[in-house]
Amino acid sequence: MTGQQFGDYQNEIYFDALFGRLPKLPMAFAELAARAEAALPPTLLSYVAGGAGDERTQRANAAAFDRWGLVPRMMVSAARRDLSVDLLGMRWPAPLFLAPIGVIGLCAQDGHGDLAAARAAARTGVPMVASTLSVDPLEQVAAQLGDTPGLFQLYTPTDRALAESLVRRAEEAGYRGIVVTLDTWVTGWRPRDLATGNFPQLRGHCLANYTSDPVFRARLAKAPEEDPGAAVLEWAGVFGNPLTWADLPWLRSLTELPLILKGLCHPEDVRRARDGGVDGVYCSNHGGRQANGGLPALDALPGVVEAADGLPVLFDSGVRSGADVVKALALGATAVGVGRPYAYGLALGGEDGVVHVLRSLLAEADLIMAVDGYPTLADLRAEDALRRVWS
Ligand SMILES: Cc1cc2nc3c(=O)[nH]c(=O)nc-3n(C[C@H](O)[C@H](O)[C@H](O)COP(=O)(O)O)c2cc1C
Repeated sequence: MTGQQFGDYQNEIYFDALFGRLPKLPMAFAELAARAEAALPPTLLSYVAGGAGDERTQRANAAAFDRWGLVPRMMVSAARRDLSVDLLGMRWPAPLFLAPIGVIGLCAQDGHGDLAAARAAARTGVPMVASTLSVDPLEQVAAQLGDTPGLFQLYTPTDRALAESLVRRAEEAGYRGIVVTLDTWVTGWRPRDLATGNFPQLRGHCLANYTSDPVFRARLAKAPEEDPGAAVLEWAGVFGNPLTWADLPWLRSLTELPLILKGLCHPEDVRRARDGGVDGVYCSNHGGRQANGGLPALDALPGVVEAADGLPVLFDSGVRSGADVVKALALGATAVGVGRPYAYGLALGGEDGVVHVLRSLLAEADLIMAVDGYPTLADLRAEDALRRVWS
């Protein structure tokens, strides 16, 4: 077995402590969130930590993991674990990735968080899904990824030529897949942001992929550098495309890169995506940011996996620990996305903060697999690995 032993991170921490060096960053999510909340400026905190409605779905996403437990197996000598995974024509060292976060750029103290997250991806080997809404253009984000794969997340604009241009640029920059997010053609009802009229893009933030795009620029009477306000209004008019299944052949025709649809929770939608020739599906409810009153994404996962019928299933929403990663994998996810935790890591510790969050998640997942006797991902996916906890 050749996999990287992610659990070794704990040895580094314990040995460092022998020389008086204690971890500077929190080891548990609750403290990470609390310290990041104190560190982030209020408008950014409201955008990152907030969700739709009274945030019930957001909380339910995380709570859903408590209803599952891994059954320990003994005497299997899980001394070495292999977490590596083949998907979408790539081999990833572990089934973990950075979910796309639109304002990640702003979460870094220097205002270039997209680049910091990409550098953290390069250092850890954890792939990054780069958002359309970034401070730095997608080419500059890709340049920081080193050998680690990046995927480009597309918010499909109403202008098809602009969509095509963004995809072409992502291909040329070396991204290894296109993730089309379906659940955000309109912004959900977000009381925290509404209370302060806080919408970063309308203030001109995170629009670099548009303002650097030749098709977008050709739509403007004046260059965005000369008239930023007009560029923002143009962006607001072109951003959200309420796609239908009739648009899927067009989306598919845009690229030969792997195409993944994000936001699928209903098995019938997964079947339609599959029939339409996608390469992967991404089960997510956007971390409860878009629609309140919904099902926890984890509850939708088994149905999505079944309907995907062997297609890779990416998953996010509510992942806060290595134990959560293990449970999502045991429920059939091919790879698991981390969202808010790395935004908090970035806010507290920059690039090192993201590396710490990723290494901690991987170490905990790896050590759970060691202790509980599941040396491979295939072992985790055994039918009797996970049990429903009734309380
Ligand atoms: C501040 C913020 C911005 C986000 N921006 C995007 C985005 O640009 N594109 C996208 O597809 N998803 C975006 N998401 C959703 C994430 O990709 C992911 O689905 C979500 O964070 C998962 O929920 P969790 O962070 O609570 O685990 C964003 C999430 C947050 C918290």
